[in-house]
Amino acid sequence: MKRTKVIDALKSVEYGKDINVKGWVRSHRSSKAVDFIALNDGSTINSIQIVVDPSVMDEEQLKSITTGACIGVDGIVVESQGTGQTVEIQCKNIVIYGLCPSDYPMQKKGQSFEYMRKYAHLRLRTNTFGAVFRIRHNMAIAVHKYFHDHGFFYFNTPLITASDCEGAGEMFQVTTKNLYNLEKDEDGKIKYDDDFFGKMTSLTVSGQLEGELGATALGSIYTFGPTFRAENSNTPRHLAEFWMIEPEVAFLEQEGLMDLEEDFIKYCIRWALDNCKDDLAFLNNMIDKGLIERLEGVLKQDFVRLPYTEGIKILEEAVAKGHKFENPVSWGIDLASEHERFLVEEHFKKPVIMTDYPKEIKAFYMKINEDDKTVQGTDVLFPQIGEIIGGSVREENYDKLVGEIERRQIPMKDMWWYLDTRKYGSCPHAGFGLGFERLILFVTGMQNIRDVIPFPRTPKTAEF
Ligand code: 4AD
Ligand code: MG
Repeated sequence: MKRTKVIDALKSVEYGKDINVKGWVRSHRSSKAVDFIALNDGSTINSIQIVVDPSVMDEEQLKSITTGACIGVDGIVVESQGTGQTVEIQCKNIVIYGLCPSDYPMQKKGQSFEYMRKYAHLRLRTNTFGAVFRIRHNMAIAVHKYFHDHGFFYFNTPLITASDCEGAGEMFQVTTKNLYNLEKDEDGKIKYDDDFFGKMTSLTVSGQLEGELGATALGSIYTFGPTFRAENSNTPRHLAEFWMIEPEVAFLEQEGLMDLEEDFIKYCIRWALDNCKDDLAFLNNMIDKGLIERLEGVLKQDFVRLPYTEGIKILEEAVAKGHKFENPVSWGIDLASEHERFLVEEHFKKPVIMTDYPKEIKAFYMKINEDDKTVQGTDVLFPQIGEIIGGSVREENYDKLVGEIERRQIPMKDMWWYLDTRKYGSCPHAGFGLGFERLILFVTGMQNIRDVIPFPRTPKTAEF
């Protein structure tokens, strides 16, 4: 008989109908007359209850079906006697696909997230991680839907690149070698072939520069792909491999860029509230009691638009009134996470788009304001998260851009293709990068970025 997914079985109202479901056992309880098995196949947070009359199978075999075991069940859809669900399955036959020995690491409920990270390959089978990764999927759909509906083209930028977009030198270098035919030098050291591309290449830290080539040809593009940073930050907000969404738009100026940032984030949050109801209700209940209220709250508010200089004034006033920050505050500093969170969580109590940063703390490509001190950056700062978006209007003037590249001693010969956008038919344009995992953190209420990507990469950890 054809398998029905648990999500569909639970919606079934045809009592008396034959059905087949397959999945992993979440729990197995025995009472005198019947056994109850909660079965989940990952299609939904909810498990379906299987009611087993012990006469349907050998007693020892039935007992061997413990938490984590994989089984198939033939049965009849019946009205549930228990609370919460309308449907359960009266079991006629069970097929055991895989038993699960008692050393199954995900057996106990309430294990810490830190413990579960050691079993990233098995934590996927728990309710919490099932919810998180279904939401992650839905957010990826929301990203594509938003941009497609707004006339943006999905544009793929290279993962292996010879340029450093952010100019921070935090790049993973690419080398080649044949793992099964290791050549060694006289000292016995493995010989690497660094000459595959004829120059040094790295994994991309941002698709923006190539994205600008797309935008200045197709008008509006977005990228959505893996991004790599060799920054040695062991924080709950940083990964060495994360996913970034980078829209880039021709003829867009600063106000329009901020409108796009705000509209896009709100769309994604609305999408989660509309399409991930069961998973969000579960996380709200189990992980973070204020989650849904917080998500709804963001939709009701206009984000604050705050020039950096005013932000610094607010922080300085807080210091004058006795607020203690670990990092000193003065014009020119790169805001620390404590500063960002003070502005968003304590001062304004809503998301902030911070604009017009000092040029010395931002990348070379940002449009320089008339004061020649600040640039048209537009970062979005979020409660719980800190910086969720980094964006800017781009410098479209060829001479100013070359001046900035020279001043920062960025090797000019590597930038000729980028400069061509300014040389030939240059146009005003702007864009931003949103860290996908930081968005998922906000939407799920999870606390650590390692828990919203299936297989996290952080310093000293690259399991699997
Ligand atoms: O602010 P960033 O460095 O901006 C750029 O890379 C621009 N080139 C983007 C653009 O304008 N197209 O990074 C953008 C966002 C950050 O706001 C943050 O959300 C995320 O990427 N991010 C990280 N997320 C997880 N782990 C890391 N190590 C991250 N570094 C940045
Ligand atoms: Mg940034």
